[in-house]
Amino acid sequence: MRIGILNSGGDCPGLNAVIHGVVGAAHKLGWEVIGFRDGFEGLLPPGDYQVLDPEDTVGILKLGGTILGTTNKVSLAAKMGEGTKEEIAEMVIKKASRTMSQLEIRALIVVGGDGSLSTALHLYKAGFPVIGVPKTIDNDLQATAMTFGFDSAVSCVVDAMDRLHTTALSHKRVMVVEVMGRNAGWIALWGGIAGGANVILLPEIEFSLDKVAQFIKDREAKGNHSSMVIVAEGARTPDGKLLTNKNDDGSDVRLGGIGDFVANELAVRTGKETRACTLGHLQRGGAPTGLDRILGARFGVKAVKLAEEGRFGRMVSYQSYHVTSSSIEKAVHKLKLVDPEGEEVETARAIGICLGD
Ligand code: F6P
Repeated sequence: MRIGILNSGGDCPGLNAVIHGVVGAAHKLGWEVIGFRDGFEGLLPPGDYQVLDPEDTVGILKLGGTILGTTNKVSLAAKMGEGTKEEIAEMVIKKASRTMSQLEIRALIVVGGDGSLSTALHLYKAGFPVIGVPKTIDNDLQATAMTFGFDSAVSCVVDAMDRLHTTALSHKRVMVVEVMGRNAGWIALWGGIAGGANVILLPEIEFSLDKVAQFIKDREAKGNHSSMVIVAEGARTPDGKLLTNKNDDGSDVRLGGIGDFVANELAVRTGKETRACTLGHLQRGGAPTGLDRILGARFGVKAVKLAEEGRFGRMVSYQSYHVTSSSIEKAVHKLKLVDPEGEEVETARAIGICLGD
């Protein structure tokens, strides 16, 4: 029996831990594992892949990135950006199917976020024996309480906040930190609470810059001369604009710029010296946290179990400390966003954080 694994979309800390789990569990069953390179592209004839033996995975569990390479500019993209659905060309599906039959792949494990799992679902509906594994630092997938990679991104934000806090304090400045997360505010919310933010601005909660400025001025009046503001890249300006950097290469829309925007507006409104810092890809790079190493390895092992049971069209899912599964369809039908009335937001408000509303 031979199975395939590919990871697609942006890289994410913990991808190698998944590969490690898959290869370990498959070899215990006497199966061979083929790793397709550069996401779905590796499936296109003649096939770009490598056989993954246990020796190839020694020591990779703790490595960031992915030994298989990845891309988010693909001919098998079924969904680009929020809400936009594109069909995969019939010819591309046929080509990928040819590679699957030639290599006699009996199960294909797709490790991906919303976009890649949408592609996986298309392939499943076209007859591919697909199993999904939820990957994204954004934590915006339905049907799983957590994706791997999220904890590592939050831990990077917390480390950055700790560093930026001391310089903000020394200079009595307002520091605005822009973080990733696309249309969801999870990284900002968790990173903000854990990193000691005074203000958290999310895509899910409309904010007023006048209210944020007043909050900072009130802090000033009480003797707190520095303030930490964290803003999610997908947060909109008060007039509803989503700030983006234009990509010339035809890839997905790249969010960015809200941090500088908020910093400039707050400087004008508060009269305080303000600086912006965009954390960018620092949040995706580097070694996974302990939690993401464990989640990744467990997800990989569970994916092989689902393949063994022939439960195709399922995605590994994390619920109440248990690794279980859900249908891929359920995971991708819409993004999991922060609930403005939810318990995490309530916690932020209770400990005195301003959400700008
Ligand atoms: O989806 C993960 C993510 O890191 C988002 O948080 C971010 O908006 C995007 O990918 C960045 O993508 P790229 O690596 O293509 O710039």
